[in-house]
Amino acid sequence: MLAVRCRKIVKIYDSGGQRVTALGGIDLDIATGELMMLVGPSGCGKTTLISVIAGILDQDEGSCEVFGKDLAAMSNREKLKFRASHIGFVFQAFNLLPSLTVAENVSVPLLINGIRRAEAERKANSILEQVGLGDRTTFLPSQLSGGQQQRVAIARALIHDPGLIVCDEPTSALDHETGHTVMQLLKNTVLQSNRALVIVTHDSRIFSFADRTAEMDDGRIVKITDTSAAH
Ligand SMILES: Nc1ncnc2c1ncn2[C@@H]1O[C@H](COP(=O)(O)OP(=O)(O)OP(=O)(O)O)[C@@H](O)[C@H]1O
Ligand SMILES: [Mg+2]
Repeated sequence: MLAVRCRKIVKIYDSGGQRVTALGGIDLDIATGELMMLVGPSGCGKTTLISVIAGILDQDEGSCEVFGKDLAAMSNREKLKFRASHIGFVFQAFNLLPSLTVAENVSVPLLINGIRRAEAERKANSILEQVGLGDRTTFLPSQLSGGQQQRVAIARALIHDPGLIVCDEPTSALDHETGHTVMQLLKNTVLQSNRALVIVTHDSRIFSFADRTAEMDDGRIVKITDTSAAH
């Protein structure tokens, strides 16, 4: 089954009269059970593409379906509900809520889905343990290092067990060993429960985790390499 089906996606930003074609016609399929990496030079459109895929940004042309549902056809309310149950997103800048503790931040997707606070925090503590932050659950984001904040963002993206997980540079602030642990956790999530994972990265240390790698340049996908046989 397809997790993501993008056809001819165009996105043009218009900032003060200057138009930038960030996506110039993207076709991309991502299957369930697949870890797809997205690479390419700064400014080539990676964040824009995954924002469209995750329903955070509307495209100008073309269609994007996630698990067979056209996100652009949904009302804002429907889209929020769909994202809350099916999509986990790790932002390039983490986007943690500064006044909430680590455990509260990670609980948010469960609370949105109507899970009781005590149960949500129990689950949050358990996933925080898995990313090596079991002793930081009551801290505020500002009391954490960059790499620790990044792991909180990853825990938050996984906690509600979404079918599609989208990560923007998830290992950029992590040392080799922690990055490897986090990638192993993400990879296991895909393998065990047939999820789909899209990861934007510049980090060559994690390339080998990919099933396929799509190279972008100037708003287009220029090459897709199948590396699933390598592992
Ligand atoms: N809100 C915006 N308004 C205007 N232009 C934008 C906006 N966001 C992105 N752009 C432009 O769109 C292009 C693609 O940006 P995008 O953030 O998708 O790149 P990226 O591949 O994620 O880069 P990086 O690797 O540096 O994160 C860039 O040229 C950027 O200047
Ligand atoms: Mg980016």
